[in-house]
Amino acid sequence: MDIRFQEAEARFEGRTVLHALSLSLSERRIGVVGLNGSGKTTFARLINGLVKPASGRVTVNGFDTVADADKARGQTGFIFQNPQNQIILPVLREDIALGLQGRKLPKPEINALVDRVLSRLGILHLGERRAHELSGGELQLAALASVLVTEPPILIMDEPTNQLDLRNRRLVADTIEGLNEHVLVVSHDLDLIADFDRVLLFHEGRLVGDGLPAEVIARYRGIALP
Ligand SMILES: Nc1ncnc2c1ncn2[C@@H]1O[C@H](COP(=O)(O)OP(=O)(O)OP(=O)(O)O)[C@@H](O)[C@H]1O
Ligand SMILES: [Mg+2]
Repeated sequence: MDIRFQEAEARFEGRTVLHALSLSLSERRIGVVGLNGSGKTTFARLINGLVKPASGRVTVNGFDTVADADKARGQTGFIFQNPQNQIILPVLREDIALGLQGRKLPKPEINALVDRVLSRLGILHLGERRAHELSGGELQLAALASVLVTEPPILIMDEPTNQLDLRNRRLVADTIEGLNEHVLVVSHDLDLIADFDRVLLFHEGRLVGDGLPAEVIARYRGIALP
């Protein structure tokens, strides 16, 4: 994985929410922390091209998120902060199968892949359910399944455990641990990222911490609870 920010800046309606940022990311497990509104989601969205830099550039595995938007986006799977934005089709397993549409696989093979990802997350029983009837936590696991099934080389998760009970939180943590993919996780769940390879701390739209979890989390605590 090779994600590069080169003086990339994000602005909304003239307001700078992420100040010019330069960094390279290659670690397998990267956590992103910071107070509400500090720019974490904006940072994550710059990587998959949902937010375009107002100046500077962002590349993912060599593809520019503006000039090569489709290829850049193909490198990443994104799990949204609000999982209801993720599931489009009413029935969960149909929605998950949608992600495999481009592969022109025979139907039984698609069904098998959908079963496998649902089983992996312990939610095979939810396959026939209607997405709008699922609980917040069930929906969060469903959103994770809908992205995992496509096996993107880089997974970006925006607060993947924020609605989960203790058991499912553990399931998601273990799932992240077991993934071959590179993972970048935005989270207020400090335990989740405690053994990651690298943690980034944002504050008021600036990167103010970048290093090993213990050191960066300590700095975050200092900012959050001075
Ligand atoms: N589409 C948008 N239009 C205008 N302002 C936006 C937009 N998206 C984000 N912002 C603003 O940018 C700032 C950073 O938002 P962002 O969502 O990146 O924060 P965050 O660190 O993810 O916060 P949280 O922990 O609450 O999810 C906030 O002040 C937010 O109001
Ligand atoms: Mg956010």
